[in-house]
Amino acid sequence: MHLMGEGIAIVPSAPHQSRNGDVQFQFRPDSDFYYLTHFPEPEAVLVLVPGRPEGEFIMFCREKDELKETWDGRREGVQGAVNNYQADQAFPIDELESKLTSLMENRDKVFTVMGRYPEFDSEVIHAVSQIRNKQRSGVHAPGEIVDLGHVLHEMRLIKRKEELKLMRQAANISAAAHMRAMKATKPGVYEYQVQAELECEFRLGGSEWPAYPSIVAGGENACILHYTENRCELADGDLLLIDAGAEYDCYAADITRTFPVNGRYSGPQKAVYEVVLEAQKTAMAAVAPERPLIDYHNAAVEVLTDGMIDLGLLQGERNELIETKAFNRFYMHRTGHWLGMDVHDVGDYKIDEEWRELEPGMVLTVEPGMYIAAAEDIDEKWHNIGIRIEDDVLVTRNGNENLTIKAPKEIDDIEHLMND
Ligand code: GLY
Ligand code: MN
Ligand code: MN
Repeated sequence: MHLMGEGIAIVPSAPHQSRNGDVQFQFRPDSDFYYLTHFPEPEAVLVLVPGRPEGEFIMFCREKDELKETWDGRREGVQGAVNNYQADQAFPIDELESKLTSLMENRDKVFTVMGRYPEFDSEVIHAVSQIRNKQRSGVHAPGEIVDLGHVLHEMRLIKRKEELKLMRQAANISAAAHMRAMKATKPGVYEYQVQAELECEFRLGGSEWPAYPSIVAGGENACILHYTENRCELADGDLLLIDAGAEYDCYAADITRTFPVNGRYSGPQKAVYEVVLEAQKTAMAAVAPERPLIDYHNAAVEVLTDGMIDLGLLQGERNELIETKAFNRFYMHRTGHWLGMDVHDVGDYKIDEEWRELEPGMVLTVEPGMYIAAAEDIDEKWHNIGIRIEDDVLVTRNGNENLTIKAPKEIDDIEHLMND
């Protein structure tokens, strides 16, 4: 509210999403809305009006309704929004349209999320035009509609202590799940069976669901970056790449581990794995306050490109192979992203066209990889080796902290766990 001046912010939660027939997807709140309210119900809208004498924090939500609650579950109602969520005032959601116009009168700017929920955008625009029609009576309509993300997402980018507690929880549950998956993996098991072990551990840990669809990719499937069918049988001699993370109270973890289906890395698998692991550690060392964000990506690319030369996958000189992006054939994604309530979290990556500097409280992933699809010009021993290693890293005052350190990634540790 301090950043909004004479503005008003209007923040809707997410709408229900139809799945099929009369079945809906499980409701998951909008991240911006939940960040500001922690209010878990659908059909809710937050309005912030700094300096309004009757109350600055206003919630519109579903009313209590005995019959509906018997069928569909409990509701806070307007009293619950005030008592349990610290709203100054709360009104039934059905009154939003009529109340919004008067709340917006004489405010300079409307801060809202634009483009995410088109139906809601038109309600906001409708309310603004209603006020314009009343201008002869002396009220003035907001002159600007501003993207709330500009102010809110910079706040979401720097995690507070309460948020980090939830992120640590998501990270710990996810690390335990990856270990369980390693133990459950052997030749003849299906990818979906490993997925079931993993997601069972998420749920046992109190996570409601994965933060994104789990990728459980054996053998050549690991070379499809967003493979989520998870339906193949795991073969002796192949690697298994798992990219999966739990969501805990709307905060995500995002971990990737790659390990041998039969519990022992082959020579070529080990050779590629060691390059990716070194790239990951080198990149992680470049995550520190005041370091430009691009440093850790560049660090990973350098180690990976050197590795590609040593393995005989690329021929030429390192800097030229980097400049011409020849490494992209085997490493085609960036080294990471912001992590928070959304797995690819909000927050700008560049400021005035320059990669921004890291600051304490930011959380990002470090996830280099190497993906060698079968091809005629590549020695067969490398075919279908796809490896990614991904951890979640908090920028601290002195450097960084690996939030997902409990998920083993050293070759010896993984082999030991799988064969114990
Ligand atoms: N799991 C999505 C990602 O790693 O970015
Ligand atoms: Mn991932
Ligand atoms: Mn990621």
